[in-house]
Amino acid sequence: MRKVHRVLPASAISSLEEYLSKRGGEGLAAARTVDPMVLVETLEASGLRGRGGAGFPTGVKWRTMVENRSSRVGTTVVVNGAEGEPGTFKDRSILRRSPYHVLEGALIAAQAVGADRVIFGLKRSFTLEVARVRAAIVEAEASGWSGEIALEVFEGPDEYLYGEETALLETIDGRYPFPRLAPPFRRGVRSATERHGGARPGVTSAATVQMAGPGGATDAPPALVDNVETLANVPRIVQRGADWFRTVGTEQSPGTIVCTVTGSTRRHGVAEVIMGTPLREVIESIGGGTREGHQIKAVMPGVANGLIPADLLDTPVSYEAMNAIGSGVGSGGFIVMDDTVDLVAVAAGVSRFLGVESCGQCTPCKQGGLKISGLLQQLSLSEADDRTFPAVEAGVAAVADSARCYLAHQHEAVVHSVLERFPEELEAHLSGRADGVPPYLVAELVDISDGVAVLDGRFREKQPDWTFEEVFSGKLPADRLGEGRYGDWTFRPREWVSLTDTTD
Ligand SMILES: Cc1cc2nc3c(=O)[nH]c(=O)nc-3n(C[C@H](O)[C@H](O)[C@H](O)COP(=O)(O)O)c2cc1C
Ligand code: SF4
Repeated sequence: MRKVHRVLPASAISSLEEYLSKRGGEGLAAARTVDPMVLVETLEASGLRGRGGAGFPTGVKWRTMVENRSSRVGTTVVVNGAEGEPGTFKDRSILRRSPYHVLEGALIAAQAVGADRVIFGLKRSFTLEVARVRAAIVEAEASGWSGEIALEVFEGPDEYLYGEETALLETIDGRYPFPRLAPPFRRGVRSATERHGGARPGVTSAATVQMAGPGGATDAPPALVDNVETLANVPRIVQRGADWFRTVGTEQSPGTIVCTVTGSTRRHGVAEVIMGTPLREVIESIGGGTREGHQIKAVMPGVANGLIPADLLDTPVSYEAMNAIGSGVGSGGFIVMDDTVDLVAVAAGVSRFLGVESCGQCTPCKQGGLKISGLLQQLSLSEADDRTFPAVEAGVAAVADSARCYLAHQHEAVVHSVLERFPEELEAHLSGRADGVPPYLVAELVDISDGVAVLDGRFREKQPDWTFEEVFSGKLPADRLGEGRYGDWTFRPREWVSLTDTTD
């Protein structure tokens, strides 16, 4: 398989000077000479789709920003570097090797949508990436490369939902990482109490504010949220043109994608591949295949899409092909499961992850999600009775009811795929033929070092109220609204537990 280096350089670029000496910066220089709408049109023609998971066309999003500009308040470009999807380590890999590609992409985006500010939304625990980005900003400002655009780093919390774009914007505005109804392309949305002058800033939520729709809410200016990898693609598209970008990939999924392979493979790693490469080749090339004597049973593309069974491994890694088999590309993170992995334990692990990380603004998602997680744990431990399986099915059918964000749909999609595609695994547990196994550990990747993935082992102790107390308080994260500023309780030190194996 051909590995490529459009956005993930083969080795780390150590300074802005080095980046510029390797023809970095040419996209930004070109962008500064054309009308901003030419940039929007170029991105539209390129067909670049957001690499944060949803695959939304980037040029279309940029056009929305331009159409919703405020005449009074400046637009902000927010770089989504929150990367918390289990099995994904591509944004941190890009930032470690070259924050410059991303910074240049963000500066071009600012030029295109008329923004005066770029905020890098990272996590405080991403110490290496924060240091790399901060150093790049110092260089860009000192050399005048960033022009009049203000550059900032926001060091956010570890919660999975922080990466959801409305939650990211909420957190940057000093509130909790709870998804809101107001559209993603607004920041500075004030909560009802704030608007009436009542509350301490930062204490409440804009969760129910709906007023910031297109054309309205001039005090809530547009904010363009784009993923790290998406923005890293931008400089070369502008420098070389939309047709060049389309020279690799498929019609609907042009370009490349940075994939992460972990799980039951000989090694774990991250590499950039051409869109449309068969999944089997991606796994072979990055992961070195399975251990001697073992076969792949399934592949899980993060926790947002259904599991892919072994007989569909030749499916191309493209948005359209993955959707056609009832799964998705997600953020290009593929967790491989061989024939030793119990998929009911996997479903229980995913369900626990999503149940714990749910914020609790929607009852079916949080309460229903935790219930499904408990039932799947019983199934996995082979402690289920006749009522367990029907209760799981009923829970999965309802978990996404009235969901405010996509997390609840993820819960439905992943668990449903295991129930539907691997009935024999369930049957083995229900009939008592399978040994009881604890849930598979599904958690954020902390690092990939020497070909071995390191997971956030502390997630095992995370409670559904987002604390690490010994006992679950029974409260939901959303119950904490009004308790104080979000930062007071979330920026806790994390002790990473290194794991070389994803099984418990
Ligand atoms: C629960 C949840 C978590 C998410 N986490 C991330 C994340 O860590 N990084 C990211 O770029 N997008 C994440 N997303 C997707 C963002 O909401 C959004 O689609 C993306 O930042 C848009 O950028 P793009 O168009 O460049 O992909 C998440 C979405 C959901 C529902
Ligand atoms: S769907 Fe779940 S995670 Fe999303 S806002 Fe509702 S409760 Fe929170």
